[in-house]
Amino acid sequence: MNDTSLTPTTPTGHRRSSAVLITGAGGEVGHGLIDALHAQGREEIVAIDIRELEPAMRDKCRETFVGDICDPLLLGRLLAMYEITEIYHLAALLSTRAEYAPESAHEVNVGGTLNLLRLASEQARSHGRKVKFIYPSSIAVYGMPDLDTKAKAGAVTEDEYLNPTTMYGCNKLYGEHLGRYYARHYRQLAQDRIPDVLDFRCVRYPGLISPHTVPSGGTSDFGPEMIHAAAAGKPYKCFVRESARIPFMTMGEAIEATLALGAADAKRLTRCVYNIGAFSPTAGEFADAVREAFPGADISFKPDVQRQAIVDSWPEEVDWSAATRDWDYKPGKGFKQAFEEDLLPPIRARYTG
Ligand code: SER
Repeated sequence: MNDTSLTPTTPTGHRRSSAVLITGAGGEVGHGLIDALHAQGREEIVAIDIRELEPAMRDKCRETFVGDICDPLLLGRLLAMYEITEIYHLAALLSTRAEYAPESAHEVNVGGTLNLLRLASEQARSHGRKVKFIYPSSIAVYGMPDLDTKAKAGAVTEDEYLNPTTMYGCNKLYGEHLGRYYARHYRQLAQDRIPDVLDFRCVRYPGLISPHTVPSGGTSDFGPEMIHAAAAGKPYKCFVRESARIPFMTMGEAIEATLALGAADAKRLTRCVYNIGAFSPTAGEFADAVREAFPGADISFKPDVQRQAIVDSWPEEVDWSAATRDWDYKPGKGFKQAFEEDLLPPIRARYTG
């Protein structure tokens, strides 16, 4: 598209400054992403979160907003003040939290996503260039029918077993479809339609493990919780059984992959949604590695039937060959190596420092 009829100015006539918008900036992925973008010298980060960001994070942003992505006034202010060229839409209620308040989760996860997609298309219409919209989705979009199928399925492709059992999974799957719709078919019958307003790219994360932050509200949290508890010298009761297996990766690799997809050559991208992942230890193997690193670690297994069922509905492994083919994605290290080299040293430093 190339409609520059509307000049990007503020209501007072000043030229709007360009911005990379990050929603849910205070969450685990937000932390990693702001650090990485700041390290790349990006000075135009504008962040939104429902809570005030820590000062160290705020310092890396041009501006931060405390507010709700469902609030049209806040989004209107953003639209008036900034020329948004790129959006990382991270804000979401994760799978465990969402099961306690499914309708609120729907409001944030679907309503918020719709608001951001609309904001992106209005931005694109106003400044005449496509807006890049990066949307992290999740292994929660899958719904394996039973354990036997899960064990036999191996690495599942992006288009298989899409029958999520959680509100979060349903919301993420629909978010993927909405993004594709806005990118390819938005207002397809309207006379004044401007095609190609959005460059929507979605990466499906496995469970993520950050050495710097402890997750909350998710169902893959048992992995990172186990390591952080052991490093902090606290006992940990794992809420899934030892044989539970889902894919994981380190936060560092997830951020790297997200930025790589964002930077990929659009001509090579054959789809909107890509799986990524790195390793799939069982919860028992996770515990063994943690006990080896922290010999006094007190880890026990007390499966919670409902949360276990959610983990059972997620695949053991995902097939990331489309990401490799289209944007050269390659997972870096295996579980033991990533654990020892990328997770343990910063986690030890965090709890002893
Ligand atoms: N970490 C997410 C959750 O547990 C899944 O991707 O909800």
